[in-house]
Formats: sequence, structure tokens, C-alpha cells
Amino acid sequence: MQKPKKNNEMFSKVLKNRPKPYFQEIISKDHLTPPSVLREESCSYVGSDDVDRERYFSKKFHNLELENIWNKVWQFACREEDIPLPGDYYVYDIVDQSILIVRTEDGTIKAYYNSCLHRGTQLKPSNTCGFSKILKCPFHGWSWSLDGKLKNIPSDWDFPHVSHQEFKLPEVKSDIWGGFIFINLDKNSNSLKDFLSVLPEHFKDWDMGKRSKAAHVAKIVPCNWKFAIEAFLEGYHVSETHPQALPYTGDTNCQYDHWGPHISRMMSGLGTPSPTLKNKKIDDADVIESMQDLVSYLDGGSDKKNIHRNEKPRDFLSNSMREILTSSTGVDHEKFSTSEIIDAIQYFVFPNFIPWAGYGVPIVYRFRPNGHNPDTSIFEVILLYENNDEKKETDPGINWLEEGDSWTKAEELGGLGALFDQDEAAFRSGQLGLKASNKKGSTFSLYQESRIRHFHKTIDMYMSL
Ligand code: FES
Ligand SMILES: [Fe+2]
Repeated sequence: MQKPKKNNEMFSKVLKNRPKPYFQEIISKDHLTPPSVLREESCSYVGSDDVDRERYFSKKFHNLELENIWNKVWQFACREEDIPLPGDYYVYDIVDQSILIVRTEDGTIKAYYNSCLHRGTQLKPSNTCGFSKILKCPFHGWSWSLDGKLKNIPSDWDFPHVSHQEFKLPEVKSDIWGGFIFINLDKNSNSLKDFLSVLPEHFKDWDMGKRSKAAHVAKIVPCNWKFAIEAFLEGYHVSETHPQALPYTGDTNCQYDHWGPHISRMMSGLGTPSPTLKNKKIDDADVIESMQDLVSYLDGGSDKKNIHRNEKPRDFLSNSMREILTSSTGVDHEKFSTSEIIDAIQYFVFPNFIPWAGYGVPIVYRFRPNGHNPDTSIFEVILLYENNDEKKETDPGINWLEEGDSWTKAEELGGLGALFDQDEAAFRSGQLGLKASNKKGSTFSLYQESRIRHFHKTIDMYMSL
């Protein structure tokens, strides 16, 4: 076991050896200054031990997670615009638990256990959303009002022992941040505000409540939910898994931060080539064209051949993104800094929620176990756009891809689909390989994979390991 002083020395050396340009150096050269929160750095040594591979496939560990994590944490269930009107509902499932979230007559939001108080039937089917003025069980027809009061028992003469007062639908704790509706199955939990710690303050200039869903794509993927998340907590895999992104992605020079047990962040400078390409001749036009190929909306109206000679790729790309975002959303994007427009600024909220900050890459990821099978998980991608309209746009619904479908089938994801196909190939071989080895633990790097170490440290904390 290494001594703390040795560990800190080792970690300082790692920090010193990071390839340049650092993310901070990239954004300091932009002529539109980024907000102070992007200038913050908060990373410390989070250990060097291996992480036990059984965590990714053992049924025993899966059961412990249910008890100690999924029953205890705040989890993103749906967006406010999923249930804009009284009577709108959304069913959020987490393994065996099913939670029915409704908009009540007075516009407030309530969450209930999705289970009839008669004999348990689900009031609404799993993974559905819709509209219903009363909550009526499909089996014998008991019904409740949207605010959970028992309204009707067919043949009520046969239930003299049932008190309407006691048969209100039991509530699950819920709260809202930035248009995201969260639930918590632990009635004694701390508040959502405490749970989110620095997140609301960091996002104060990026009001997620003003955004609305433009796309929601879901798929069951062939690996444990943690293995899937971890592919989005580091930029280390880009060069091998997504080589086409290297001309425009700062990968090995990403910045990694963490605050408290629940929040971490990765910031990658885009419109700038990977340090791994330093011996290759990448000119400005290569950077621009390769990034235009990814984000299809960047193509709009710009002539690839006619790149302004004096404009640096980050300026050229962010200017064209600003223009397109302004015209497509009706929200003026002129005032936003280059970094907020172009960079990948991605936060992680333990245990499964990844909202991206800034404006140009408006993604949210969510990952959940898929029932009791630890070898698969549910991966969802949501695109959220700024919205000028007071009334939220119509919810696009969820596009569930089938096993074997390419992510590119979800055309609403533009060029991102091809990247997710590459990630999914890594999920499959990762999960199979984890089980095929006699190596007990996975070995993570100290900086580039520090968010994964931080994630497992928080898992340990919840498990009291
Ligand atoms: S189970 Fe719901 S009414 Fe009978
Ligand atoms: Fe990836």
C-alpha cells in the first residue's frame, strides 16, 4: 500500500505530465471569454487500487446495489415537458420499482408507487406515458384522483373495511431541478438540493428548465449499467474507439473535476486536434471538415471550401454554430462564449445521470439496470434545446431501438449515432471480456479515469464497503 505523501507526489507528477494544450489554455485563447465556472479546476487523487470486476456481473452485487443505491438516491425520472398538462403521466421504472409521475389539477407534480392498493396491479404499464384524468386500475376498476384520493371502488358494499382516508395512493418523494423531475424511494433521504451540491450553482447560466426535448432515444445495451456509464466518464478511449473524432477533439488533454461524492465533470476542447496527432499534419480545414461531418447541423449554409483564411477553427465552427442555433431555436446565441457553444462540457450526477452544459452539444444521458440481468442495461440519449416559446414543444416521445439496430437508425441524433455504435461495440466486448478473465480487478489510470475511480468510491460509500 502506497503512503499518502507518495500518492500525492505520484499524482502531481501525473498532472505535470498531461499533454498540452490543457483545456484551460485552449479556452483562455478564445476571444469570447468563458464564464468563471469553466475556469475552475477541482481534481485530487482518488486512489490507485484496482476495482473488483465482479461488480459488473455478480448477481450478489446487483442485489446490494438495489438495496443500498437505487433505494436511496435521487434519480432523474422524466422531464417537466413530458407531463405538461393536468392528467399527463409518465411511468419511470427502476428494476422492480415502478413510479407513476402525474401532473395534478393545480399543476403540481406528484409521484406514486405504480401499484393498485386493491391487489397490486400496475395502474399504468411500465415505460409508458400518456393522459388520464383519473388513475383507474385496469383490473377491477378502483380509481383515484390525480392528487391520490380514492375516488371509487366498484361494489363498494363489499369493502366496508376499507377507509377512503387510509387508501390514498402512497407518495414517492419527488422534486425538480432545471426541468428534470427527480424521485427518491427513501422517504428519509436528504433533499435534492443537498444531493446535487454544486450542480445548480454551476448551471445557473444554463437554465435547463428553459430547454425542451427535441429527441429521446432508448436502447437495451449489452453490458452492465456501470460499464456503460464509464465509457462516458473518460476521453481516454476516443483515440482507439472513435479515431474519426481525433482531428477535432481534445481527448488526452481533457480536464477532469469532481466535487463531493455525487458530482464530477469532464471538459474537452472541440475544434482543436487531439494531442495524439501531434506528428501528423492536421490543417485548419481538416479540423473543420471532420467536425462538420459529425454534427450534421453545422453543415447548414456553410461552404466547406470557403473557410475564412484568418479564422481559427474554433472561431469558425462556433460562429457557424451560433448562427444555426440562433435561427433554429429563436434564442439569441451571440452572447455565449466560444467554449459554451463548441466544447464538450459534461457533468455526471451519481449514480446515472449525465447532463451536458453549454449550448452546442445539448445532450443528456441516463443509464439504468435492465431488470435483474446485470449483463445488460438501458441507455437513453435525450437532446434538449433552448426554447423561446413559453409553451413547451410537443414531447417527441421515446424512440426505442431494437437489439441489433444501429444507433444511426435514430436520425434525430445526427452524426452522434455512429459514435454510439462504436461505444456499443465496446460495451459488448467489454462485458464479455470482464467475465472471461482470471484478473480480479480492472486497472484505471490516475487522471483520465479519475471520474470512474470517484464513481466507485461513491458506490463504496453507499455500500458502506
Ligand atoms: S387490482 Fe386494482 S382494482 Fe383490483
Ligand atoms: Fe465513446
